[in-house]
Amino acid sequence: MKKLILSLTFLLATRLLFAVEGMWLPLLLGLLNQTEMQSLGMKMTAEDIYSVNKGSLKDAIVQFGGGCTAEVISGQGLLLTNHHCGFGQIQQHSSLEHNYLEDGFWAKTLKDELPNPGLTVTFISRIEDVTAAALAGVTEDMDKKTRQSTIDKNLDAIKKAAKMEAYEESMIRPFFNGNQYFMFVTITYKDIRLVGAPPSSVGKFGADTDNWVWPRHTGDFSMFRIYADKNNLPAEYSADNVPMKPKHFLPISLDGVAEGDFTLVFGFPGRTNEYLPSYAISQLADVLDPARVMVRDKTLAIWDGAMRADAQVKIQYASKQAGLANAWKKWQGEVLGLHKTGAVKKKELYEADFKKLVAINPKFAKYQNLLPQFEQLYRDITPYAEAKAYFDEILGSNVELLRMASRFAGIMRANDKNGEAGFYEEKKKVQDGLEGFYKNYGPEIDQRVFAAQMEVLVKKLGKEFQSDLLAQMLANAGGSYEKLAEDIFKNSVLTNQATANALLDKPIAEAMRGIMSDPACQLYNSLRDIYVQSISPKYNEYNDQIDDLQATYMRAQMEVFPNKKFYPDANSTMRCSYGQVQGYHPQDAVTYSPQTYLEGVMEKYVPGDYEFDVPARLRELYEKKDYGQYGEGGKLPVGFIGSNHTTGGNSGSPAIDAYGNLIGLNFDRVWEGTMSDYNYDPSICRNIMVDARYVLFIVDKYAGANRLIKEMKLVHPKKPVPAAPTKEKARKPQLKSQSGSIREEKPLEKE
Ligand code: ARG
Ligand code: GLU
Repeated sequence: MKKLILSLTFLLATRLLFAVEGMWLPLLLGLLNQTEMQSLGMKMTAEDIYSVNKGSLKDAIVQFGGGCTAEVISGQGLLLTNHHCGFGQIQQHSSLEHNYLEDGFWAKTLKDELPNPGLTVTFISRIEDVTAAALAGVTEDMDKKTRQSTIDKNLDAIKKAAKMEAYEESMIRPFFNGNQYFMFVTITYKDIRLVGAPPSSVGKFGADTDNWVWPRHTGDFSMFRIYADKNNLPAEYSADNVPMKPKHFLPISLDGVAEGDFTLVFGFPGRTNEYLPSYAISQLADVLDPARVMVRDKTLAIWDGAMRADAQVKIQYASKQAGLANAWKKWQGEVLGLHKTGAVKKKELYEADFKKLVAINPKFAKYQNLLPQFEQLYRDITPYAEAKAYFDEILGSNVELLRMASRFAGIMRANDKNGEAGFYEEKKKVQDGLEGFYKNYGPEIDQRVFAAQMEVLVKKLGKEFQSDLLAQMLANAGGSYEKLAEDIFKNSVLTNQATANALLDKPIAEAMRGIMSDPACQLYNSLRDIYVQSISPKYNEYNDQIDDLQATYMRAQMEVFPNKKFYPDANSTMRCSYGQVQGYHPQDAVTYSPQTYLEGVMEKYVPGDYEFDVPARLRELYEKKDYGQYGEGGKLPVGFIGSNHTTGGNSGSPAIDAYGNLIGLNFDRVWEGTMSDYNYDPSICRNIMVDARYVLFIVDKYAGANRLIKEMKLVHPKKPVPAAPTKEKARKPQLKSQSGSIREEKPLEKE
């Protein structure tokens, strides 16, 4: 008997492990996903997740500050999102006396919650498929311009006709490369206050070293609150505003997760490209990503060295470094994952099937040339795309002097275009930005980056993309990039705030002459000419054709594979991803289990380290194993991974259990799986979540912010409600969860 139960449990456990690709539109779940979601363990219906008639999960989810997701976790508008999503606000409220970044912040009462001008959160009231009306009158043989203007007119009409409340807004977005259109009716709240944040040594624990990596031990969360006017409607900040009462908020499960548990991630993923041809993937993995990584390798090595050598520089470059390093690391994971899973080969096999089906069906004759056309276009665009990648990286984010030069060059162009008025208008904008730029600028560091990156431009790019001026300056420096950098940095006024500002304050004619003769500006202008004349015209020409072709290819894939389930690429609109708690096996002899614990934080602890320090209070709680109701078998869970398909923008998204309770908070993906933006592979694509119990533990036991715990609804969906004390009854527990849903009996634990 025991053996039978064991093998049954095992069978169940293995059978249950499934990964599901896709970021689905909440209003279509009933049609497309409900059955599969329930087979993965979900106990809810699609209507519980998205409903226009009653409060549903979607009413607890908001887009936070444009680029992240957050969720409502109390009846008083309390919001949970990532630490890195609230980072800007936490930083803004920080000073040397009140260093909330360093020490954390916990508002003691509602009155202590801090307003954040400019920060908004957006609820989705409803979503409507408006494809038919959007594409009315559009024909296949229409030229691009007529097509677009017809659609634009249609969209205007749809919006005008939409039934909305005064406080609602609407937006319409294209899906499947313009083959479908959905309208989103939204409500945006504008008074959002900071409630709490852990210290960075918890909220950003592991920093860059651990970023995009599992196993992870970061408590990446912060809390805000939505305030509304007396009618519970959006209002600008006012001291009279009150906590908003949501239509729905997420109860929080104290029961944690086990491998195989159903998970739903709900949020606003930013951008994916899942339906590209193989040629696009090779271009990305073999040309574009490696080029960008190589450029950033050089910059980061120089910045890193300087930051380690000097505490002041470390502060100055911290935020720039985090930004550059985040994508740099992601791209490396992307290349690795694309190669590892044979993404190009996979696409090629798919394309072979496509071609076969197209060849035998006369209806698809119009699609016969699609793939060869792509092949040609990607071949044509690649040199321009590569050059563009180098220029965008080097001029746009790596060499800071050239970024400043581009602003000065902007003044020149404004003057050429609009005369004095243009000059003054642009000059003011540039002057307003000087302080912020130079506060965090180290010219000696940038000079070394400049030398390294000019060598990249000269050595990596073909003749047609070379600047004569750069060649001449290099020759004047005897061919030495270091000498070239020294010459430019010595002679440019842009290397420090005082001289840069003084130049702008000169009379117009003199200032213009000064800008024109500044070597950094001259070099920037010469590089910009290359970009404008030799890169972007061709790049844009091919890219427009690729866009058109991609729209056709998207439609073609849907027609040629009518039984394949398609989900639209992410476009910052509300989506659901679902899967299960699941470890993975990235390489020979390496297997990752899906849950981390506080033990792991302590294993990584390096006293005083910028990335791996652990606050004393947390070490104390660990020593005492004082985890309250948040521990599990004497250990405190910290993070877990699952097979949910996510991307940037899903930061702060709730991880929800089978019943609709919060179990975690999404904040990252595993390194090998970052390629899921182009090629989701169930074997290695995992999203990373903070365990809800770690969040609660930090709020409650670490910070003592008890008033917040009190307003939340903590539930035990997995634990049976205590039954009558007879032996019979005790073995057959009643299984009504506290969140109100009936659940099935769980297989018995191993005895
Ligand atoms: N990789 C995550 C994301 O793309 C987390 C970034 C914040 N953490 C950091 N160490 N920079 O946003
Ligand atoms: N950290 C990402 C964000 O800010 C989420 C991780 C991902 O890209 O999946 O949205």
